[in-house]
Amino acid sequence: MGISDSDFNFVRTFIHNRAGIVLEPGKEYLADARLSPLLRQSSFKNLSELVAELRTNSFSPWNSKVVDVLTTNETSFFRDHAPFEALRTYVIPELIAARRCEKRLNIWYAASSTGQEPYSVAMLLAEHIPELATWDVSHLATDISTEALDRARQGRYAQFETNRGLPATYLEKYFDRDGLEWVLKDYIRKAVRFEELNLNKAWPALPSMDIVMMRNVMIYFDLESKRDILGKVAHLLRPDGCLFLGAAETTMHFDERFSQARRDRSGCYRCDMQYKQTG
Ligand SMILES: C[S@@+](CC[C@H](N)C(=O)[O-])C[C@H]1O[C@@H](n2cnc3c(N)ncnc32)[C@H](O)[C@@H]1O
Repeated sequence: MGISDSDFNFVRTFIHNRAGIVLEPGKEYLADARLSPLLRQSSFKNLSELVAELRTNSFSPWNSKVVDVLTTNETSFFRDHAPFEALRTYVIPELIAARRCEKRLNIWYAASSTGQEPYSVAMLLAEHIPELATWDVSHLATDISTEALDRARQGRYAQFETNRGLPATYLEKYFDRDGLEWVLKDYIRKAVRFEELNLNKAWPALPSMDIVMMRNVMIYFDLESKRDILGKVAHLLRPDGCLFLGAAETTMHFDERFSQARRDRSGCYRCDMQYKQTG
């Protein structure tokens, strides 16, 4: 039996309150498909019992499991290619020129999922910008999904995951084979710090960022959340820093302070200093 209307409405409110994710009316099939597998790990007989647990116990361990399954963790190595080309060809070179004295770069991956995005950048820097080996480069990767974060920390990927976007030369150079899986070499894995952070709740104190990768996450949020988050990013980014959004995302209509860095397909935005203090 599928999810009832009243349980679906509760789940919609639940995921919006917890994660800011908008689950549109008509997506009952999605809630059903994502929540049903949880029943096998539990003593709940049906979805109604699971939802009753969410309704009555706001500290239930099932709350975070439900958030986990309702998030979309789709990702891949070097996803969309163009952002990584932008990083390699102009974003990082310009930042290197600007930070020659301090020799420090802060990069934040604000929806890092299972880790392919931050690890792609760590490998890209190792491969193409050896000069940074003597710099203090901080890769902070965060996500709301504890399950995705656990997987990301392991740096362990199935063959089909490495087949998606990872050049063969990178696989050979930066991974070791372990049975049917591939494990990132320690020096790449340890370069990235993974922490839990909900973009739609109060953020912990974060250092000023040179680069913020916030790709393919705001598509799930409502207008108010998008505005709020972009406002916080505007304050966090250094004046010459860059924000990367996903290919289907834009700051247009949400925050006029941001504009595309170049007319390319990288999704790279800069925050206009003239407006940085407003909003
Ligand atoms: C589609 S993945 C994007 C992964 C990667 N950035 C990319 O572009 O390949 C979206 C990620 O956003 C995370 N997410 C959803 N809501 C979130 C929130 N409120 N705070 C932080 N992360 C969130 C999900 O857990 C998921 O891992």
